Amino acid sequence: MARVVIVSNRVPARAKREQQAGGLAVVLEEALKGEVLWLGWSGKRSASTSSKPYFATRGSITFATIDLSEEDYRDYYAGFSNRSLWPLFHYRTGLVAYSREEYKGYRATNRKFAEALAPFLKPGDVVWVHDYHLIPLGRWLRWQGIEVPIGFFLHIPFPPQSVFDILPPAGELAADLAVYDVIGFQTSEDRDNFLGCARNLLPVDQRTHAIAAAVTLPVGIDAQAFARMAKTSRMTAESQRLKESLVGRRLIIGADRLDYSKGLPQRFEAYSDLLETHAEYREKISYLQVAPRSREDVSEYRDLKRTLDRLTGKINGKYAEFDWVPLRYMTHGLSRKMLAGFFRMAAIGLVTPLRDGMNLVAMEYVAAQDEADPGVLVLSRFAGAAASLDAALIVNPYDPGGIAEAIHQGLSMPKEERKARWRSLMDRIEQESAAAWCRRFLVRLNASSKTLRAAS
Ligand code: G6P
Repeated sequence: MARVVIVSNRVPARAKREQQAGGLAVVLEEALKGEVLWLGWSGKRSASTSSKPYFATRGSITFATIDLSEEDYRDYYAGFSNRSLWPLFHYRTGLVAYSREEYKGYRATNRKFAEALAPFLKPGDVVWVHDYHLIPLGRWLRWQGIEVPIGFFLHIPFPPQSVFDILPPAGELAADLAVYDVIGFQTSEDRDNFLGCARNLLPVDQRTHAIAAAVTLPVGIDAQAFARMAKTSRMTAESQRLKESLVGRRLIIGADRLDYSKGLPQRFEAYSDLLETHAEYREKISYLQVAPRSREDVSEYRDLKRTLDRLTGKINGKYAEFDWVPLRYMTHGLSRKMLAGFFRMAAIGLVTPLRDGMNLVAMEYVAAQDEADPGVLVLSRFAGAAASLDAALIVNPYDPGGIAEAIHQGLSMPKEERKARWRSLMDRIEQESAAAWCRRFLVRLNASSKTLRAAS
């Protein structure tokens, strides 16, 4: 079997393993078997301009990490990746900021990744590049003379052409994507959007290649492993403490990075709406929102935090009793294990992003449930996961009143219906596992290497 070389902006750090709540790093680490080389950012910023990686081996994975300079961090990470591409790809055109300097820096940092990796690649490898930070990487690798198959997977949504076109270098980025031998998307909608762009922005040979290379491959989780973690986590001191603190009240839970794509203000409004229109729930439920702070060097993220701080104060100020806090909101993360146990305890899992590539928390909430008495998933129709998790209560995340009704429906749902919906959700999650996703992508990528050989 070919050595798999992964490139992503972040790599999983051993020390942080427990802190990660899902995400790319966890999926890959769980699903990949065999020899793997994984290159990414060390998470550090340094004055050094060297792109020589630092190596560390853990089991069958060798991690190669590079530092970013202050300019790389500013232009590539906080700049073009997270102020231009992230809002644009999440359809938030009003939040898109673009600067030529940042874009130049984005391309330069991609080149740095390519230069760091190229000396360590050997014939027979397959390279798999991940996410929006690294769109031009494949082109830079080809310029370095690298001939092995190179695939790309986009973990976030791909917008329609009318939105994508807003970006001044839209044509160049579409052409960068067309360099890859396999271009993976989470949903058919994302793939179709990309192909719409390819048809309009690319010359005929690149367009023909893009059409052949673009695939829909929804990412998944290791449901059994998460279910086991949820079961054992029930016994931990933290789960017991949460249980005791609820004093019999039913738990509603949300766990999202503090990001404007996650629909958190609308979700808080929905909870307030529920307490207003269904007074019978006051003092009978508790909503815990875990929202670890994220990308705080980008001003929109700081603005969002202020909005949520204010809404929390407003809701708790209005409805709290001396012995009941309706909304528990925390802006630091919890370990996956702790979250798994908390998910199992929750009668409702709230996953209501305004737009999301897939959303693995939705799947983790389902996997964590007790099949004899499962909770109910309230899921945004604009999460990629909604394409397969249609047995959840599907809501429009822009409509707080609609979310409030869904929470009410979930809280009053008969056990038999909860069990039937859960079974159907769990079947889908088990079918579309992380391991199957990895295998399917790599089979495609290896097949493209055969096509390459046949053509040469
Ligand atoms: C999303 C992206 C990932 C990213 C993660 C955390 O899930 O698709 O590529 O790593 O957010 O964001 P951060 O900016 O902290 O890496």
